Amino acid sequence: MIVISPMKDKDIPVVVEIERLSFKYPKPEAVFREDEHKYLVARDDEQIVGYIGIEKILDEVHIINMAIHPSYRGKGIGKRLMQHVLNDEEVFFLEVRVSNEAAKKVYEKYGFKVINTRKEYYADGEDALVMRRIPNE
Ligand SMILES: CC(C)(COP(=O)(O)OP(=O)(O)OC[C@H]1O[C@@H](n2cnc3c(N)ncnc32)[C@H](O)[C@@H]1OP(=O)(O)O)[C@@H](O)C(=O)NCCC(=O)NCCS
Repeated sequence: MIVISPMKDKDIPVVVEIERLSFKYPKPEAVFREDEHKYLVARDDEQIVGYIGIEKILDEVHIINMAIHPSYRGKGIGKRLMQHVLNDEEVFFLEVRVSNEAAKKVYEKYGFKVINTRKEYYADGEDALVMRRIPNE
């Protein structure tokens, strides 16, 4: 059974490991420590299998990032994290690599639409798509 809860201090090493396995330029542990309150973790039988970071900026909610441990992908855990954070009152936005088909699929499924491209947003020169979700749009 998947259980979602706020990230605690002791969860950070596992979250950092999943981050390392998931991204070309992983965020260092210090960033997770500073932003501890912004993260939620998903557990499967006590084992942390994924996380999502969200941050409120003015009246919009920014999805900072989301990752699922490679061994647990494709089992609906990413969708569970999205369902947990989304609501029909606030506007949500995020950036995603143009090449990241899996993530785009999840976001599109939950009503995110591409509104902009940020040229060379990532350190390797890849563009980011800015996606936004407006309630009931
Ligand atoms: C993106 C990510 C979080 C998705 O998590 P997940 O738990 O594997 O996704 P789910 O199992 O909930 O799948 C959600 C939907 O996305 C689609 N999807 C998942 N993996 C996919 C893939 N590799 N290619 C295409 N579509 C995919 C599925 O079709 C699924 O919809 P369905 O149930 O209607 O079939 C995960 O792949 C991941 O951690 N990737 C590396 C980190 C990353 O890129 N994070 C996003 C940064 S913006």
